Amino acid sequence: MKEEKPLSVHGDSFTLLIEKEKIKEKIESIAEKIKKDAKEENPLFLCVLKGAFIFMADLVRAYPGHCEVSFIRLASYQGTQSSGNVKTLLGITDNLKGRFVVIVEDIVDTGKTMKYLIDELKKQEPKCIKLAALFTKPENMQCKVHIDYPCFNIPNKFIVGYGLDFDGLYRNFPDIYTKD
Ligand code: IMP
Ligand code: MG
Repeated sequence: MKEEKPLSVHGDSFTLLIEKEKIKEKIESIAEKIKKDAKEENPLFLCVLKGAFIFMADLVRAYPGHCEVSFIRLASYQGTQSSGNVKTLLGITDNLKGRFVVIVEDIVDTGKTMKYLIDELKKQEPKCIKLAALFTKPENMQCKVHIDYPCFNIPNKFIVGYGLDFDGLYRNFPDIYTKD
């Protein structure tokens, strides 16, 4: 168990919320679940950049079977607020038709980003679209989005670390912190 003392970086302070060991366990368990659903299929893991890059790297390495990876970049946040206006900054180049697609997302907050992405992906007629989300803020959910492989429900607080940022910073923290 780590010391619960707040972390201080360049004058900003943070409180530890979830340790990386807990995240690792959860990711291993959802990797098994995805394999059970995908069976002998070759799933295409679609990482939502930038926030999900570490989650993606750990999830595919825990996946016990063949798989492929792809990346998309969306943006809706400014500072700690979702603007609600989702934009595609980097689109998908892979053909999704008939594929078992697993969206890999860091956090579902209002759900607007995932609703937008799922609607866009459906146009390409994949066999199925599953959603793996590392964090969910249930109190904030505004759009009905089904999360097939949820990991952690968290309170309505802004978190950083393990890929998640505040204005571009703190993605490299190995554990999850709330920004005080
Ligand atoms: P939504 O469209 O409101 O669900 O926003 C989802 C996106 O907002 C996620 O993909 C994250 O990039 C970002 N986001 C939401 N909450 C947090 C947070 O607590 N920390 C860092 N990024 C967040
Ligand atoms: Mg994101």
